[in-house]
Amino acid sequence: MEKFVINGGKPLKGRVHISGAKNAAVAILPAVLLSDEPCIIENLPQISDVTTLLTALSKLGAQVKIINKSTVEIDPRHASFFVVSKEMAQGMRASSYFLGALLGRHNKARVAPPGGCDFGVRPIDQHIKGFEALGAYVNIENGMVDAMAKELKGASVYLDVVSVGATINIMLAAAKAKGLTVIENAAREPHIVDLANFLNSMGADIMGAGTGVIKIRGVEHLHGTQYGIIPDQIEAGTYMVAAAATGGDVTVENVTPKHLESIIAKLVETGAVVEQYDEAVRVRMTGRPKRCNIKTMPHPGFPTDMQPQIATLLSVAEGTSIVTEDVWAGRFRYVEQLTIMGADIQVDGKSAVITGVNALKSAPVRAVDLRAGAAMIIAGLMAKGETTVEDISHIDRGYELITEKFSALGADIKRVNDYTPAVKLA
Ligand code: EPU
Repeated sequence: MEKFVINGGKPLKGRVHISGAKNAAVAILPAVLLSDEPCIIENLPQISDVTTLLTALSKLGAQVKIINKSTVEIDPRHASFFVVSKEMAQGMRASSYFLGALLGRHNKARVAPPGGCDFGVRPIDQHIKGFEALGAYVNIENGMVDAMAKELKGASVYLDVVSVGATINIMLAAAKAKGLTVIENAAREPHIVDLANFLNSMGADIMGAGTGVIKIRGVEHLHGTQYGIIPDQIEAGTYMVAAAATGGDVTVENVTPKHLESIIAKLVETGAVVEQYDEAVRVRMTGRPKRCNIKTMPHPGFPTDMQPQIATLLSVAEGTSIVTEDVWAGRFRYVEQLTIMGADIQVDGKSAVITGVNALKSAPVRAVDLRAGAAMIIAGLMAKGETTVEDISHIDRGYELITEKFSALGADIKRVNDYTPAVKLA
């Protein structure tokens, strides 16, 4: 099994280039199925979730041509299959987007239930509510979600919870449905806007993405396009927090500062100095971070996907911080790992009370999920001595070239394979 070995205690210094956004890429790739012509997608991150989706698209009959490390051409014209098996989905949350995309393309879809990070129950009732409003019958049987419609017709859908996935899935199913679909209480994340821009670049008629009300007027055909994915807000935030947590000075390049406002505001509260440029932010920190409280919320609130990383920074802050997780009930599983490294954190329901300690201590820890894994790397970079992080396949799902990027900032981090065969061969 591969693991990361980190020798921490050094401030990060230098410049890091941010890749395309994972959560935009995983929506845009299935969306290509709605096109009648080939599409070129640029600025794709090299992460395992993207590889899984490209493989699934090929299995559905699309032709996938790799142009270079961040660009693919996908020709969906012969994508005649509508089943995404458990093996094809490989535990990804975003496999659920094949439901909306295949429904939109074939009026039918059979998709293995979504997996992804384990934050407790991850329901899809709001996705199903949307499909049903558009006229689909949805059934969950034999471990597969089946959706089928004679014809999809535009409808009004009010989401009972602000859900990124449901907003995206309804947009996908509605892009070619007959008439007008209105999603109320829609999610407003930058990747929702990116998906709308992508679909509009193919000839869709979507308005209001980025607000709480999205209007989608169905069109008959979507044509090919060439489209570049936005920079990854969470990857950027992760390097920004890592810079502050190690007392470093890092310029994070190829970002949209507007998408980073809540992260910047909280870093400034902890005492970091943040300078914003057109497409970059510079983060510096000297001395011990100050305490602050964090509450995660849908965009434009503080993103839940940055919660473990900022909590790791706060674990060495002066004073007590309270981190409230308002999106995922089970997103404090990493706390046990941080306490192995000496953090003082008490979790009580939705809140974690973090009493800052002087320093974290190196230790062997695990990545319990994707962002928790990023937090463990930050913790390893903060602590003097050798920290090992296991179960790093979670991290590879969402961070491109993470050891290379941290090494370029002066970190001592290596990916090692500690596989030892159970039986010694002669
Ligand atoms: N929810 C429902 N019913 C639904 C859908 C969601 O009750 O039908 C609830 C969830 O249980 C949760 C809340 O609504 O409490 C928000 O869930 P949402 O649907 O917004 O999450 P998601 O679409 O499954 C995406 C990201 C996650 C990110 C969340 C919240 C992708 C592929 N995943 O998940 O990203 O945490 O939005 O912003 O876009 C990550 O990148 O590490 C990650 C986990």
